Amino acid sequence: MEQQIIEIRNISSSTNTDEAFRTLRTNLMYIDDLKVITISSSSPNEGKTVTAFNLAYQFAKLGKRVVLVDADMRRSSLRSYLMLKDKVSGLSEALSRQSRNYLFPTNVDNLFVILSGKNPPNPSELLSSPIFDQLISALKENFDYVIIDTAPMAVSMDATIVGRKSDGLVMVIRNEMTRKKNLRRIRADLERNGVRLVGAVLNRVKKNQIDYGDYRYEKYYE
Ligand SMILES: Nc1ncnc2c1ncn2[C@@H]1O[C@H](COP(=O)(O)OP(=O)(O)OP(=O)(O)O)[C@@H](O)[C@H]1O
Ligand SMILES: [Mg+2]
Repeated sequence: MEQQIIEIRNISSSTNTDEAFRTLRTNLMYIDDLKVITISSSSPNEGKTVTAFNLAYQFAKLGKRVVLVDADMRRSSLRSYLMLKDKVSGLSEALSRQSRNYLFPTNVDNLFVILSGKNPPNPSELLSSPIFDQLISALKENFDYVIIDTAPMAVSMDATIVGRKSDGLVMVIRNEMTRKKNLRRIRADLERNGVRLVGAVLNRVKKNQIDYGDYRYEKYYE
């Protein structure tokens, strides 16, 4: 059977965005033992999905084999963000063993996706299950990078659960939205839960605040 190719339609190239995510990619490549990268944020709408896709895309452009996994099984936005037409099985079917056909190549060379699938009643349980550990191990063997998009931390433990199973977590912070106090608390929570914080993306930075556009990568603040 010929495998279906998922067509990503939203690839637009903004020089600023490209540059910011190339910087993020380069910084992450220099961190040891970092293949499985979780992307999260404290609240909804901070830019996790945009960051996860663009990071995966930049790795793929460099010739790295990448799989982008949508682990936001609560309010997934990856399908609509990528403007996908195809309705295919995804992570929820994989983790509940309802399908074995959930990993798809895309029209971008080297970039594969696992979509979230149908909203399951118990996302945290599915992500906690050993089946997810096995899936991550298998992906790690077959890809150079595994980029995992998650639900915001304010609404569930999902990102922490996924973060623990990853090699590192990148926090997306929406400029002028997330309070420093909350960030400190989140950082402490992550550390307590054994999640390795590897960086932060400051999103929606105003043009006059920085050199290159909307996004900025930062080593995590002290
Ligand atoms: N720097 C930016 N400039 C303009 N629009 C942006 C920027 N970053 C994100 N957006 C837009 O903001 C919306 C939210 O972004 P995104 O879906 O990546 O956030 P999210 O953190 O994944 O949200 P959710 O918590 O709902 O999953 C999207 O419509 C996205 O296109
Ligand atoms: Mg999202």
